[in-house]
Amino acid sequence: MPPEAPLLYEDVATHVASLIERGALRAGDRLPSVRRFARERDVSVATVLAAYRQLENRELIETRPKSGHFVRARAQLAPALRRPKPIAPAPAKVTVSDGVATLVASMRDSSVVPLGAAHLHPELYPIRAINRLLAGIVRDTATAGAAYEVSPGLLTLRRQLARRSLMWGMSLGEDDFVITSGAMEAMHLALRVTLRPGDSVAVSSPTYFGILHLIEDMGLRAVEIPSHPDRGMDIDALQLALRRTKIRGVVAIPNFDNPSGALMPYESRVRLAGLLERHDIPLIEDDIYGDLAWDNSRPSPIKALDRAGRVLLCGSTSKTIAAGYRVGWIVPGRYAERVERLKFSQSVATSTLEQMAIAEYLSSGAYDRHLRTLRSKLATQVRAFREAIAASFPAGTSVSNPSGGFLLWVELPSSIDALQLQAEAGRRGIAIAPGPIFAAGNRYKSCIRINCGFPWSPAISNAVRTLGELATRLAKNGGSHG
Ligand SMILES: Cc1ncc(COP(=O)(O)O)c(C=O)c1O
Repeated sequence: MPPEAPLLYEDVATHVASLIERGALRAGDRLPSVRRFARERDVSVATVLAAYRQLENRELIETRPKSGHFVRARAQLAPALRRPKPIAPAPAKVTVSDGVATLVASMRDSSVVPLGAAHLHPELYPIRAINRLLAGIVRDTATAGAAYEVSPGLLTLRRQLARRSLMWGMSLGEDDFVITSGAMEAMHLALRVTLRPGDSVAVSSPTYFGILHLIEDMGLRAVEIPSHPDRGMDIDALQLALRRTKIRGVVAIPNFDNPSGALMPYESRVRLAGLLERHDIPLIEDDIYGDLAWDNSRPSPIKALDRAGRVLLCGSTSKTIAAGYRVGWIVPGRYAERVERLKFSQSVATSTLEQMAIAEYLSSGAYDRHLRTLRSKLATQVRAFREAIAASFPAGTSVSNPSGGFLLWVELPSSIDALQLQAEAGRRGIAIAPGPIFAAGNRYKSCIRINCGFPWSPAISNAVRTLGELATRLAKNGGSHG
């Protein structure tokens, strides 16, 4: 076990960094003296000193001799996103699969600068620890992996998840979980047991293209609900859409939405839970980024407000532990039996060894330590991306301002065609995710999503600058490219 002190000072540093990020502390503001801070927070002077040192290394604060610690002036940040435009609440056919295929192709090429798909640098995952656990399992139990771990999945893993649910503001039991092959399978199962081909489902606009891809594959229709850059799905618009058209279910990512990074406020969650009840429809809740709040808080899923089992909560280890292990879960509520049966008929079971390794990792206590470090690194990375975008993208660019996760949504001047930018960036070995794959209708033509899951480096810095130059050129030539 590493000593306690590093955890505590990282906590303090993350707290101060988030105050700076949100503008509660501004450039030139003086931080409390080390002694006062220690007294007020009930931590040791050494802890505060270590936290201030880390903030200095991150270039967030500076020490002025004999005066104390001050928030540093930084490059001007790109303005936050504009309010969403209204969208007529009508069911729409979805066709994103060609665009998604282009993005997936870029994932196969390891020489590409990976600003497209949402994934982390391998070194940000606790992958060595997990792989060691896996090797130990295979060494100690020669027959491990021989048997199917049929639905609902490995008991020890479900038990660990049930324990963790206390931190999510719930108290789920091991029998509430079904283990899946990632959140994607969980979402697929959830849509299959709640909706039929031709049904309409409400989704945020913009939303994660994987959700739209599932909707397209299953012959569903999407009713796009505008998403506010900070607050996520517009609940007034959802209420109106529910009144105007027959909607059979809702899909939402309330915690650090993909692509906007929005964190839905509590009041909206309560209203959304009320609407589900009134219209007697399910919510498919994707909570894959819930563990990645930079200030170490852990926002509860909407599932925590669900008394009648209408919410199907989907989660995964892909953004925090290991994407390649393909371990996720669903808490299917009242649909449990159908989900278990469908899981069996689709894939029989999720791989046993990976479930065993993740269960051991969660029970070791190392996950929470890993999360603290990861969150702090992601906050730093995303900040570096925002500053670089502000410095090199054309005037009129706006950028999301998330407080968790590792994605940025960028609105470019309207003369820029994101698909053309994607093609030109691709020729220079840079992947990005273009706006049109995040919507059913032909929207977000001048938006892109940027993956900030890789540590800031000369290669990343050059790639962002190149993107900025390409975007500036396209903005100048606006219109001539169609
Ligand atoms: C919002 C969201 N849901 C689901 C997934 C897919 O997760 P998994 O790898 O667990 O299948 C992703 C991956 O990018 C995602 O961003």
